Amino acid sequence: MDQIVDEVWARLHAGASAGKEHSPFTMLQVATIALDGAPAVRTVVLRRASREQRSVMFHTDVRSTKVAELRRDPRISLVGCDLDGGIQIRLDGVARIVETPPETRAVWSSSRPRTLIVYRTPLAPATPVASPVEAHAATHAGDPDSSAGFENFCLIDVTVSRIDYLDLNPTGHRRASLVFEEGKWRGTWLAP
Ligand SMILES: Cc1cc2nc3c(=O)[nH]c(=O)nc-3n(C[C@H](O)[C@H](O)[C@H](O)COP(=O)(O)O)c2cc1C
Repeated sequence: MDQIVDEVWARLHAGASAGKEHSPFTMLQVATIALDGAPAVRTVVLRRASREQRSVMFHTDVRSTKVAELRRDPRISLVGCDLDGGIQIRLDGVARIVETPPETRAVWSSSRPRTLIVYRTPLAPATPVASPVEAHAATHAGDPDSSAGFENFCLIDVTVSRIDYLDLNPTGHRRASLVFEEGKWRGTWLAP
């Protein structure tokens, strides 16, 4: 079971470190509880995975719907899948919205400028527009200043408390539940 814990964090770390190459766990789907109580899910780029801090982190816009949802209920689930390897990793935890410098400033400064353009638009995500072009124009009217849009940038830092690992290997499917209790990961095999 310790090997499964190692494998999960190694895969998440590879996803977060892949840069332009991407790896199966670079993109994760993130579920929150919408303001009306319905499930809400979307794709994000995994930016950091830390086994020591049992955390995963992604970037987002403080004005986005998901941030409003997490302010109301910080419970969060993430899922990623290696289609070729037949591996699914699900994570449950609690999200912290990190919106204060210097934590955000350090990450902003070390991010590729291309990934930061989206934060420069004066239009909050999900603002109705007459046509897509209206939103493009607003984004590209950006200030060349490298801090432009910084006020809209935040990090979502998730402390993971439960992992569900599924391996659909043709020689035998395996599913494990890992729960963080009393300072360590405790694993249980489950029927897939
Ligand atoms: C490949 C891909 C990667 C994405 N990465 C992110 C991301 O890292 N952060 C983010 O906030 N949105 C990202 N998005 C957009 C989200 O999926 C979502 O549409 C947006 O954040 C608005 O979500 P919300 O209305 O639920 O807040 C990505 C979308 C795609 C297709």
